[in-house]
Amino acid sequence: MSIHNDIERVFYSHEELQAKVKELGEAITRDYQGKSPIFVGVLKGCFVFMADLMRSVDLPCEIDFMAVSSYGKGTKSSGVVQINKDLSFDIAGRDVLIVEDILDSGVTLNYLKGYLENRNPASIKIVTLFDKPSRRKAPIYADYYGYEVPDEFIVGYGLDYAEKYRNLPYIGVLKHEIYE
Ligand code: IMP
Ligand code: MG
Repeated sequence: MSIHNDIERVFYSHEELQAKVKELGEAITRDYQGKSPIFVGVLKGCFVFMADLMRSVDLPCEIDFMAVSSYGKGTKSSGVVQINKDLSFDIAGRDVLIVEDILDSGVTLNYLKGYLENRNPASIKIVTLFDKPSRRKAPIYADYYGYEVPDEFIVGYGLDYAEKYRNLPYIGVLKHEIYE
């Protein structure tokens, strides 16, 4: 009963992901010289990406997490954003980097960005590993992104389908019979 048997095809291998995440970390290191940003991960999807990203960033930095839900168990956004866990740090005057797994409709991040802007940070930027610009419904863009992906539901490297498959070390597409 291997989870790998549920995968139709691999989109990005573990090695490709590692190289891409390293690039993103280096870009952030360059852009934030002399600063000490705070990384705000959007749970749960961010956790694998964020762990690798942080280790590619050579800056004094801090991390915190937020948990929001806009998705049910399916593959389409419900459009409703609910805060399930808030920050444990005060971000006033801080440089904030929101870390997402994938930017899809943008409804979640648009809400979250506005919510955090109200706390007067010095800056807010968004870093996402994947971007699905064709699905965008809210006026939101990523300041850093790894890959632009087509309108297909992907899993692995933190991304789930019905809470499963986050532990796949690569990004893949599930076999059709799984989405039932
Ligand atoms: P949105 O941008 O508000 O539509 O929602 C983004 C969130 O939807 C992401 O953080 C993921 O949790 C989830 N999501 C969107 N597309 C996918 C996908 O292809 N695979 C897994 N999760 C996805
Ligand atoms: Mg999800």
